Amino acid sequence: MSRIRWSICTTGWCGMGEPVVIPILPIAPVRPDPLPLCASTELAEKGNAFVFDVLHFREPARAFVLRFDGRVVAYLNRCLHVPTEMDWQYGEFLDSGKEFIMCSIHGAVYEPLTGRCAGGPCGRGTLTVIEAFEREGQVYWYPSQDMTPAFA
Ligand code: FES
Repeated sequence: MSRIRWSICTTGWCGMGEPVVIPILPIAPVRPDPLPLCASTELAEKGNAFVFDVLHFREPARAFVLRFDGRVVAYLNRCLHVPTEMDWQYGEFLDSGKEFIMCSIHGAVYEPLTGRCAGGPCGRGTLTVIEAFEREGQVYWYPSQDMTPAFA
């Protein structure tokens, strides 16, 4: 990206100004360091989630990470139907068939790998995704501008 800026002669010696191209370099966003959540072994396939506290737009909230089809996925624990926590018991988010994340309040179901609403009163929305990954036996999440750790 660049912007063309014209120099202005103020002395009369230079005639018309030459165009001067001033490059505007994109500023790479500074990505925060990933934060550790739990050991990989704590997340059983389609088992209970690891629940953690965050600040979502500076408001205290809960989030969770679980393992589904071998992947770790993390979301804000907030239903799209009514902004409330969804777990049946603490850390228990999946339906009885272990196919969907199911809200315990009115039964909205979400696709575990994407967070997309798959049925019920959640409409066409998607759960708020939190970027999570695992490396060398440890699960991590990336804070963002909107989602920060509750305890820094
Ligand atoms: S609050 Fe989740 S389905 Fe109604």
